Amino acid sequence: MSNLASHDSSQSPDRRESGPDRPADPYADRRVVGHASENYPRKPRVAVVFGGRSSEHGVSVVTAASVLSAIDRDKYDVLPIGITTEGRWALTADDPERMAIADRRMPTVEQVTDHEGAVMLPVDPANREVVYTEAGAVPKALGEVDVVFPMLHGPYGEDGTLQGLLELSGVPYVGAGVLASAVGMDKEYMKRVFTSFGLAVGPYTVIRPRAWERDSEAVRREVTDFAAEHGWPLFVKPARAGSSFGITKVDGPEGLDAAITEARRHDPKVIVEALLRGREIECGVLEFEDGPRASVPAEIPPVTSHAFYDFEAKYIDSAEGIVPAPLTEEQTAEVRRLAVEAFEAASCEGLVRADFFLLDSGEFVINEINTMPGFTPISMYPRMWRETGVDYRQLVDLLIQAALRRSTGLR
Ligand SMILES: Nc1ncnc2c1ncn2[C@@H]1O[C@H](COP(=O)(O)OP(=O)(O)O)[C@@H](O)[C@H]1O
Ligand SMILES: [Mg+2]
Repeated sequence: MSNLASHDSSQSPDRRESGPDRPADPYADRRVVGHASENYPRKPRVAVVFGGRSSEHGVSVVTAASVLSAIDRDKYDVLPIGITTEGRWALTADDPERMAIADRRMPTVEQVTDHEGAVMLPVDPANREVVYTEAGAVPKALGEVDVVFPMLHGPYGEDGTLQGLLELSGVPYVGAGVLASAVGMDKEYMKRVFTSFGLAVGPYTVIRPRAWERDSEAVRREVTDFAAEHGWPLFVKPARAGSSFGITKVDGPEGLDAAITEARRHDPKVIVEALLRGREIECGVLEFEDGPRASVPAEIPPVTSHAFYDFEAKYIDSAEGIVPAPLTEEQTAEVRRLAVEAFEAASCEGLVRADFFLLDSGEFVINEINTMPGFTPISMYPRMWRETGVDYRQLVDLLIQAALRRSTGLR
């Protein structure tokens, strides 16, 4: 229980330090959270929330370790909260070393928590006091949280659900809101939004759960017709997953069923895409005080030892992206412009990584956006920003500041 004691709200700095020379209640107007050092007598408290129920649990833990190490402790207080694979919010140790990859095995939240109870964020915009509860024990207040850094990938983290909870709780958070998160998670609606804003997307068709369950034979025919028009191979993907989980490159009709079954293990809705031939170009967008700006782009070279840029290539072997991408000045300007357009099209906030294919024809086609992209110091998003002049610590700080600036609610 040692680290619980340090979170005891009776000892939290805001209470200890309130005296005649300080405002009695700095949070009297709780709808406004300012830049703490100027407006408030204590540092803003950042809850780094990580782990989660998605298949990207381990990646999230590894990333949170980097974020925890990079947060400026002179400027912010930190409360790490891990979400277990079952969905319990656990109080975890502020100990990045326990959150590393060991023997090519991804870490879990379970290995960094010493507490059985659950952490709760009250659904009460007037109360930001986080509470720890454990069976048979008196609930313990852990102090107020001013901003959440949801370092989560995939469903229940990056898809708008957590963002909805934070909206109800009235706690500002880093990154995209409810709508943008949901759009960024759903490869079908993402394409629909981009198309409606004039961004080019590749050919695709969607297998809806009811259609597959009612008449899988008709669906197979549809997909075969789609292949007749666009050619094999096809990419069969869960509509709402990430990190290449459940994606299969299918070379012909005989591989289709297995690919659909695999995708449906992750999501009952499946998207089928034509192969795009070209170079993979990515671009980071970051929200500054005066609005979003794009980083220099990167190129992801074709990975020869993996079927495509899959999970292992991305996270464990940390595939070597080329930063900046060797493009012409015009192409670089074009992809940076398109990346900001994609950010605006989906109403993103804070950050986004926009991924494109540069087709042989010279056209940029958008593949997807990631509202919480890979975020370890060697991940593409931080690397692109470093090359643009923003290092990892600054990046973390700018994201927290953007979240504190905007608060919750309609904006
Ligand atoms: N239509 C496509 N044509 C060619 N390569 C693709 C296509 N779709 C996906 N890929 C390859 O698979 C990788 C993962 O697909 P992506 O749609 O980005 O899924 P995820 O959300 O899991 O990152 C891409 O980075 C790319 O290398
Ligand atoms: Mg991707």
